[in-house]
Amino acid sequence: MVNLFDNDVESWERLARTDALWAVLSSDEFHDDALTRAAIERFWASGEQHIEHVLAIVRGELDPGFAPNVALDFGCGVGRNLVPLARRCRSAVGLDASPTMAKRCEGRLAECGLSNGAAFVTGRRIDPGPLASFGPVDFVHSVLVFQHIATEEGLGLLDQLLDLLAPGGHGFLQFHCKSPGGAAARAVKSLRLRSPRMNALAIKSRIPALRDVVMLYEYDVLDLLWHLGGHAVDDIVLERVDTGRGGYDARLYFAKFQGTQEEFARAGRPMKVRVRP
Ligand SMILES: C[S@@+](CC[C@H](N)C(=O)[O-])C[C@H]1O[C@@H](n2cnc3c(N)ncnc32)[C@H](O)[C@@H]1O
Repeated sequence: MVNLFDNDVESWERLARTDALWAVLSSDEFHDDALTRAAIERFWASGEQHIEHVLAIVRGELDPGFAPNVALDFGCGVGRNLVPLARRCRSAVGLDASPTMAKRCEGRLAECGLSNGAAFVTGRRIDPGPLASFGPVDFVHSVLVFQHIATEEGLGLLDQLLDLLAPGGHGFLQFHCKSPGGAAARAVKSLRLRSPRMNALAIKSRIPALRDVVMLYEYDVLDLLWHLGGHAVDDIVLERVDTGRGGYDARLYFAKFQGTQEEFARAGRPMKVRVRP
């Protein structure tokens, strides 16, 4: 049985050591050997813009007074979003499967003069130990991460993140739901998922469609809503983002019920889901 999770984590660690910014945002200008000062500025600015946008939507659609204390960024990479979160929250904690990414993230926090952030290495299980000293997590965030985690493992990690979110907390999570391309691309992908040999061949292939090194894993929107509902999330704003050739991502902004899981079950409140045009 192929251990996709460990293989993927190994690839992230390799990428983090060789081409970290490009691994995060795969545009040519972010390759290590092409980086200019302007490109580096654009890279960090993209995180500021993203976090501003996310917080504006949470405030506009879910809670006008939203002001998170402790933010948790799952798959923090080099800190593109963790640094803007640290600037806006009492504490910001990052988790990443790649030790080099986590180290670079801490380096970036220090470079920005921020002492209210930290990054830890994580695996299949999220260890709540190191997080405890920051206080209850009232904002969970993750972008460009779950799409790189095999779906079953990703859903398990989603449950753990939602467990960590305090009652009344909020979140933003992005998932890839449908890959671009037609039946042939899907058939190749499914073969790659099932056979390590086929996967190795695809990676070595000269045909770009077969070769895209980092696999994108798909999530079903109903499954995601089911997992959120199972953790007392009762208010969700859903955005569909087209990724070309029929592919799309789902971006979920959400609020967790104020009371305990038991109170939530007793209240029997239907989940509210709004789709942003
Ligand atoms: C494309 S980068 C995005 C980084 C960051 N979220 C951003 O938008 O700037 C994906 C990150 O997810 C991390 N990652 C991949 N699998 C992970 C896992 N199972 N648990 C935690 N982090 C993971 C990678 O090491 C990498 O830093």
